[in-house]
Amino acid sequence: MTDLLLLPGDGIGPEVTAQVRRVAERLAGELKVEERLFGGASYDKHGTPLNDETLAEATAAKAVLMGAVGGPKWADAPRQLRPEAGLLNLRAGMEVFANLRPALCFGPLADASTLRREVVEGLDIMIVRELTGGVYFGHPRGIETLADGSKRGIDTQVYTTGEIERVARVAFELARGRRNKVTSAEKSNVMETGLLWREVVTALHAREFPDVTLEHMLADNCAMQLVKNPRQFDVIVTDNLFGDILSDEAAMLTGSLGMLPSAAIGAPGKPGLYEPIHGSAPDIAGQGVANPLAAILSFEMALRWSLGRADLADKLFAAVGRALEAGARTRDLGGTLSTAQMADAVIEAL
Ligand code: NAD
Ligand code: IPM
Ligand code: MN
Repeated sequence: MTDLLLLPGDGIGPEVTAQVRRVAERLAGELKVEERLFGGASYDKHGTPLNDETLAEATAAKAVLMGAVGGPKWADAPRQLRPEAGLLNLRAGMEVFANLRPALCFGPLADASTLRREVVEGLDIMIVRELTGGVYFGHPRGIETLADGSKRGIDTQVYTTGEIERVARVAFELARGRRNKVTSAEKSNVMETGLLWREVVTALHAREFPDVTLEHMLADNCAMQLVKNPRQFDVIVTDNLFGDILSDEAAMLTGSLGMLPSAAIGAPGKPGLYEPIHGSAPDIAGQGVANPLAAILSFEMALRWSLGRADLADKLFAAVGRALEAGARTRDLGGTLSTAQMADAVIEAL
């Protein structure tokens, strides 16, 4: 059985997952690691971003670690065959409905953020993003031609009670192990799904988690509060689209998009999907300068959440902290280290 299935993908994806492989060999050489084409790379070879064998391997592995997918090369591919569609199909196929995106500001990086040190120092937020529903998957969708020849684009935002409950439950449970506060972000002032989201979260809270502090916040205000006073947050639970946007915003509080890992989890015992939240970064791909820490920290999350090795996860997390403490910086963090040299620094700290 494969312990870790690597899906390097496109752009900087293969560059950062290559470093994960090195770290994994150093830290846990006994892990059985496999690798498959995914995204644009798979489309070029197989005519589809995610073929049946790869999905089957992913659901049979203990954990899957994805690099990044997409890029200008595939801009004209049919929508259902674009690299990003492969990623959505992988998330849906693995049924990983809760996406944990921790925004954590490592002490030595407090000056790397575009925000002032006193705003971000000590920051430790967990964004829980619903990942397999909402406007990303709702029907009807498409672009249709109207009688007058003009066009109409349609996306559908849709959520059921069960979809909201299961992701909110993950958020409340996480909060209990942290600072015991959940902020639920939606647009209940204008959206029906937002109204249902608020009702369901409120009811679940009263029924199962009365000991956790629950706060409701409109998503636009949440975006503003994230840059005004981010340390007011502990766990933020939100839908697929708001979670996508709020987590990129939160990434910059930590210094760089290249720092944020994520874990997508589903039912207990099912494999998790681990991915840096950044994309394929076409602007720097092939230069060997991408920050590999988001990918390395995604492996840290895989050790903790899917591979039953919290001990090794702790070691790796501490090693990343020590490497940063010693001054290791890629270009996005204001330094000059290459992708491989940043991984060297982590391996040395291990
Ligand atoms: P992006 O995240 O790829 O890049 C945004 C900016 O952040 C760029 O300037 C990039 O150079 C920088 N950046 C990102 N990761 C970095 C890293 N590890 N180290 C240093 N700098 C880093 O977002 P984009 O440019 O909007 O999207 C590019 C492509 O990636 C698109 O095709 C998009 O669909 C795709 N994408 C994929 C994923 C994913 O696979 N999970 C996530 C986001 C975007
Ligand atoms: C992310 C990305 C993806 C998303 C894209 C590439 C499908 O932006 O993982 O944050 O929108 O979920
Ligand atoms: Mn995103």
